[in-house]
Amino acid sequence: MDDNHIVERVLFSAEEIQKRVRELGAAISADYREAGTKNERTRPLLVVGLLKGALPFMADLIRAIQVPMEYDFIAVSSYENGTVPGEVRVLKDLERAVAGRNLLVVEDIVDTGHTLRHITRRLQARDPASIKVCTLLDKPHRREVEVEVDYVGFKLEDPWFVVGYGLDFGELYRNLPYIGALRSECIERCER
Ligand code: IMP
Repeated sequence: MDDNHIVERVLFSAEEIQKRVRELGAAISADYREAGTKNERTRPLLVVGLLKGALPFMADLIRAIQVPMEYDFIAVSSYENGTVPGEVRVLKDLERAVAGRNLLVVEDIVDTGHTLRHITRRLQARDPASIKVCTLLDKPHRREVEVEVDYVGFKLEDPWFVVGYGLDFGELYRNLPYIGALRSECIERCER
């Protein structure tokens, strides 16, 4: 099935995404510039991307951030083959020590909140100076555990399962330049 057939409708176009990413980058830069002036000895911001879904968003976001920064990745397991949340597994950890650093965790989407809670707890245990979270998409109505999110690209109020710009359905469609709602027939056919 080609991409046009699995997408019910485009929710956010490539242009809308780029505009929002620039706004997020400006807000993040302003906040960390402010924090930096209060403590001159703070080491550069460490932006932590969650693979694989956050990759396109992260690539654009870091180029919209205008404060000194480094980046690193954590790879977490995503849903196996369909749309049902599975357990959180870390497949690849950070390469850098994070003690005393300001961390910005970058997620593709916060759904139930389990992934984010797992990752922020894991990072918190390593004694960073601060942890903030930036997610491209947020599905607040789906939350099962409470998590703090500091920057949100777009809120999804409808019960869509979305694909594109890093978001997958069974590992496919991450390469779509827009974010689209998956047709419900696709979900039903693929769920076991
Ligand atoms: P959570 O642990 O339930 O918050 O799920 C977070 C992860 O679930 C995200 O990083 C995505 O990989 C995946 N996910 C949740 N909703 C969607 C969706 O609508 N499309 C694609 N992936 C999703």
